[in-house]
Amino acid sequence: MLNIKNISKTYSKGKVKAVDNISLQVKRGEIFGFLGPNGAGKTTTIKMITGILPIDEGEITINGFNIEKDAINAKKNMGFVPDSHDVYERLKGIEYLNFMADVYDVPADVRKERIDKYLDMFSMKEAAGQPIKSYSHGMKQKIIVIGVLLHQPPLWIMDEPLTGLDPKSSHLLKEEMHQHCSKGNTVFFSTHVLEVAEKLCDRIGIINKGKIIAVGTMDDLRKSQDSSLENIFLSLTEGSDIDA
Ligand SMILES: Nc1ncnc2c1ncn2[C@@H]1O[C@H](COP(=O)(O)OP(=O)(O)O)[C@@H](O)[C@H]1O
Ligand SMILES: [Mg+2]
Repeated sequence: MLNIKNISKTYSKGKVKAVDNISLQVKRGEIFGFLGPNGAGKTTTIKMITGILPIDEGEITINGFNIEKDAINAKKNMGFVPDSHDVYERLKGIEYLNFMADVYDVPADVRKERIDKYLDMFSMKEAAGQPIKSYSHGMKQKIIVIGVLLHQPPLWIMDEPLTGLDPKSSHLLKEEMHQHCSKGNTVFFSTHVLEVAEKLCDRIGIINKGKIIAVGTMDDLRKSQDSSLENIFLSLTEGSDIDA
């Protein structure tokens, strides 16, 4: 579903190598956690997967479509929840949802049913009539999540999706991630919180300083005696009670 092949990215005219020759394959039906400490290169990788940042080297395909050479088809196959949400501030929640449904050609009857269902589920019915700029961080997160669920993309990508959500919303989002995968779709999300990845994911890829240092199930990773892996687990666990 998602095939990342030898990608690299530098910032500041080559001074900062944010992503260094990363390769990953994520399968259909999988919840894949992209785990690493702050500054590891998660957001940079996700911005390349979603076509927001050009790729310096390597290539990425989504459901077989190259994100740079066949961007429209690649993007039709994905939905994205970014880590910052100040893009559609002027729209009301409901206008944003209808806009997303238009962009992804969600038929009128399906659209209505899903909008009602998810607004209700995430307690966003009343807020939907208000402009997004009046929302809290968590509410913005929820409206963007609903916007993705409306079109049920084969690949659902999220950057630090649980940060800033209240416990109930966080629980609901995790349930939706499972639901989405049980229908044969794929979820790829980043986190700097070990417990989140541990509980939620079928497989985990660990990134540190722009490099993938391990990929596998949590059991596979725990069996590994690699000291760099242990260090990264330690640094991730230190911050884990802050915003899990
Ligand atoms: N726009 C940018 N310009 C320069 N350096 C950047 C930029 N964005 C990120 N970086 C650097 O790239 C590295 C990876 O950042 P990022 O991908 O945001 O990590 P993560 O999402 O894992 O916290 C960090 O060293 C960060 O400081
Ligand atoms: Mg990030």
